[in-house]
Amino acid sequence: MTKRKILITSALPYANGSIHLGHLLEHIQTDIWARFQKLRGHECYAVCADDAHGTPVMLKAQELGITPEEMVAQTCAEHNQDFIDFNVNYDQYHVTHSEENKALSELIYNRLNDAGHIKKRTITQLFDPEKEMFLPDRFVKGTCPKCGSEDQNGDNCDSCSATYSPTDLKNPRSVVSGATPVLKDSEHYFFDLPAFEGMLKEWLQSDSIQPEIANKLQEWFESGLQQWDISRDAPYFGFEIPNAPGKFFYVWLDAPIGYMASFKKLCDRLELDFDEYWKPDSTAEVYHNIGKDITYFHCLFWPAMLEGAKFRKPNNVFVHGFVTVNGAKMSKSRGTFIKARTYLEHLNPEYLRYYFAAKLSSGVTDIDLNFEDFIQRVNSDLVGKVVNIASRCASFITKKFDGKLSSNILEPELIKAFQDKGEEIAQHYEAREYSRAIREIMALADKANQYIDAQAPWVLIKDQDKQALTHDVCTMGINLFRILVSYLKPVVPTLAEQSEAFFNDQLTWDSYKTVLTDHSINKFKALLQRVDADKVNAMVEASKESLAQTNKETPEAKIDENSPLASDPISETISFDDFAKIDLRIAKIAKAEHVEGADKLIKLQLDLGGETKQVFAGIKAAYQPEDLEGKLTVMVANLAPRKMRFGLSEGMVLAAGPGGSDLYILNPEDGAQPGMRVK
Ligand code: MSP
Ligand code: ZN
Repeated sequence: MTKRKILITSALPYANGSIHLGHLLEHIQTDIWARFQKLRGHECYAVCADDAHGTPVMLKAQELGITPEEMVAQTCAEHNQDFIDFNVNYDQYHVTHSEENKALSELIYNRLNDAGHIKKRTITQLFDPEKEMFLPDRFVKGTCPKCGSEDQNGDNCDSCSATYSPTDLKNPRSVVSGATPVLKDSEHYFFDLPAFEGMLKEWLQSDSIQPEIANKLQEWFESGLQQWDISRDAPYFGFEIPNAPGKFFYVWLDAPIGYMASFKKLCDRLELDFDEYWKPDSTAEVYHNIGKDITYFHCLFWPAMLEGAKFRKPNNVFVHGFVTVNGAKMSKSRGTFIKARTYLEHLNPEYLRYYFAAKLSSGVTDIDLNFEDFIQRVNSDLVGKVVNIASRCASFITKKFDGKLSSNILEPELIKAFQDKGEEIAQHYEAREYSRAIREIMALADKANQYIDAQAPWVLIKDQDKQALTHDVCTMGINLFRILVSYLKPVVPTLAEQSEAFFNDQLTWDSYKTVLTDHSINKFKALLQRVDADKVNAMVEASKESLAQTNKETPEAKIDENSPLASDPISETISFDDFAKIDLRIAKIAKAEHVEGADKLIKLQLDLGGETKQVFAGIKAAYQPEDLEGKLTVMVANLAPRKMRFGLSEGMVLAAGPGGSDLYILNPEDGAQPGMRVK
């Protein structure tokens, strides 16, 4: 396989707000892809940066009483830490207010200007006479010129959906100062986008452009390309335009150049060849990962700017949809506008990485983060299927076989079936069809669990003649688990890393092609906890508070505590002394009978080796009385007797499971005697 050179970017988050779960979809999407490419052995770099410039950043800094530079430095550091904590591993995280970006922006502008692609003309705009600044559309409000409804935005009406220019508003006022804006002339600089129409049409013919996007762009061509206003008057936080005092680059001019600037910074650090990636005939691959709202900038202006300035164009722009939460737009009042940091304070980042991966495709459809589904998927797939394979095999290897895998592969056919899926799964990652990759991987996990269920090593181990077989079965289990982890590594890097420590082996993409035999493994530690519904609810609550919103009840965002999907949280701690008071004993179920008039209870007579206790247990949905007689179980023997409607209950039997018919009373292994203490 030839080694590819790949550069992938995520859209640069604005430096005036926190990273939220909507942003994270994109960063996780990029990160999974970059990790996959790196695991495949390609030279792949992922870069991003904070988008520092523009009026909102400038005004926010003023509000905080600090310089924009100070604010940007703080936000950028915060964003960077959020990504690191989500395992989003950028090779470079930079900022657009940087030397590199200034130099590249000037270079590109000068080249465009020299080639005659920059035009000047005077335009009339609303100006805030108090603040002495021109007002961007969203900083003007007023009465809709069409329907007369008040307090509408500068460019469109919420009430009648009319679009207009802010100069058409009746009774306009500045959102910044409240003053009535006046009209003022100013000379602006325009980028001659229509000159690139032919090139753009051709670029869009490339079969790799997503069809939804190609269609959208087609509409834009039909309505006619316009010259693009790339200058803003002082005061503005940005780069001053060369030879144009008081004029600054509009934030969207230097923002995409920020991709190059961040990469330039990386090149300087690692001594890479910048030109190799950006020269017009480059064979390196460049991809941008963006949300659908910024397609226009990335699929029209950006390729045209690059072409006009004699740089290469991206191979593709990958456009994704928007994140909704519980079926609706993220909402601050509902607590579903969740910041990355708030999530991290409550939940493991790998849950979200897995969930997004399980839902992501190469399309532009929106992605719903439904909390019940989130809890259910993570718990049943990652914890219940994948990690469970290792939990069921590892301890036997450690305890009974000296921590060493057997030298024999019992079912080479099954291993091969797992390996045969490797290339297909790789192709799904490559095509950004992560949900397909996950579906294939989980189908394999089901197979692995079926195999282990059928072999039941916990039964085999009891048979002295079947020790070697048990060893082989568990070795199979660990190897199947290892293949699954190698497939999942781009998605859940921490789980993979902990598994590598357990395997005593480093995984690359190709690891699935090999098996471990005669190999020492380390002690297995629980790799992942189940998602706790209470923590999800706490995160939603905290998101309401952190935004100082009203404390309205929001049933949509809550998980029903009674839902079978909601797992019980670990309650308050008890002391060791409290624990030591519990007298757990092996009991033999001497007699089990139905209770007249009770639909959940079974009446048990428990033999404690001399003493008999009567217990009413709520396990009728799971067991028939006749199935229980003669079995051993574990009971709390010193529980104070309780008088129930049907009689006295003198203890409790221990059971585990989600409830209902899925409830299992504990069955101690053979060899236990009634009355024995359980340690
Ligand atoms: N600063 C510009 C991008 C400049 S790129 C040269 C910007 N910033 S942003 O912070 O508003 O958005 C950054 C990215 O996050 C965009 O790709 C945007 O589509 C994405 N998302 C923001 N909210 C989102 C969701 N709710 N869901 C999915 N993606 C979202 O635009
Ligand atoms: Zn209106």
